[in-house]
Amino acid sequence: MSKAAEDFSIPIDPATIPQRRLNTGALMPAIGLGTFGSDHVSAAEVAAAVKGAAAAGYRHFDCASVYGNEREIGAAFEDIFKGGVRRAELWITSKLWNDKHEEDDVIASCRQSLADLRLKYLDLYLVHWPFPNFHPPGCDVSSRSPDARPYIHENYMKTWRKMEELVDMGLVRHIGTSNMTIPKLKLLLRDARIKPAVNEMELHPHFQQPELFRFVVENGIQPVGYCPIGSPGRPERDRTPEDTVPTEDPVIVRIAQRHGIHPAVVCIKWAVQRGQVPIPFSVHHYRANLEGVVSEPLTDEEMREIAGIDRNCRFIKGQVFLWKEGQSWEALWDMNGEITPP
Ligand SMILES: NC(=O)c1ccc[n+]([C@@H]2O[C@H](COP(=O)([O-])OP(=O)(O)OC[C@H]3O[C@@H](n4cnc5c(N)ncnc54)[C@H](OP(=O)(O)O)[C@@H]3O)[C@@H](O)[C@H]2O)c1
Repeated sequence: MSKAAEDFSIPIDPATIPQRRLNTGALMPAIGLGTFGSDHVSAAEVAAAVKGAAAAGYRHFDCASVYGNEREIGAAFEDIFKGGVRRAELWITSKLWNDKHEEDDVIASCRQSLADLRLKYLDLYLVHWPFPNFHPPGCDVSSRSPDARPYIHENYMKTWRKMEELVDMGLVRHIGTSNMTIPKLKLLLRDARIKPAVNEMELHPHFQQPELFRFVVENGIQPVGYCPIGSPGRPERDRTPEDTVPTEDPVIVRIAQRHGIHPAVVCIKWAVQRGQVPIPFSVHHYRANLEGVVSEPLTDEEMREIAGIDRNCRFIKGQVFLWKEGQSWEALWDMNGEITPP
């Protein structure tokens, strides 16, 4: 075990963290810190974790306007820069929320995130969901907006043209998608002037999405994996009786015992070795997760064992974005390979 692994006050050298090369040639750190406090961690606590994580060696942060903490995180970034880290050393992502898809809103919303985060540019700006459907933060999964609309490609492209303009303006270095499906991505790849550099998607050992994963990789899009640990801290409203717990899977537990690490860290090691970029949220364990990606890798046999425990168990179902009475969440995910008709 390295000295840094024993002493948590010694930072991990960011140069030792693996990187992924994107379709633009740019390098993205292969692990980032998620910043969605799942309603139970305050903005101040998340901002403190961002500072702590940067001190521990993290150079990648996954933010979003809807997380309601970009102002506090912006103050944290300012302190990180005052401490000597250069802007070019950080990879900072933010996301366009669903109520800002209108052509006039996209650039203004990005500017607001830049102002809140106290930055001149973002490394990556994502369209958070392909649906322009607003719902109040913290609302119940059964809540439906009367204005909710289905995916309409023509409208998504209007939003995407503005995303492309943000790149032209120099406000954003890369643009990408989140919560997309293969049929939606096919249309975007056909019509985009600037192709998505990444697709952010739910990925953990119990939801490996092999088909979508393969599709994005084959099309030069980097998969970024959210809920990499299975989101044990997600709110009650995001849980259903069928949900499984990846960190309690006997295969994960056995591998964790073998390596003397927490099962959560096994999930992170697996994610990085498989080729996705995990963005684990953590206010207490971020150091251990980073350590996990620079220490002894999982063996090929362990990687095969984890590949075998996929349960196709999606946690973030997105029910609040449904647009019709009586619909089930599967309608959001184009399960039969075609975009669900309006
Ligand atoms: N694009 C999207 O639509 C979308 C959707 C969901 C999430 N996201 C992004 O993905 C990020 C991660 O997802 P998530 O927060 O839902 O789930 P997650 O990262 O799978 O799980 C986070 C939870 O795991 C715990 N944890 C982390 N490392 C641990 C360790 N080594 N040992 C034990 N417990 C550990 C954390 O507790 P402690 O805080 O106590 O360490 C926290 O409760 C979000 O923060 C957000 O940035 C994006």
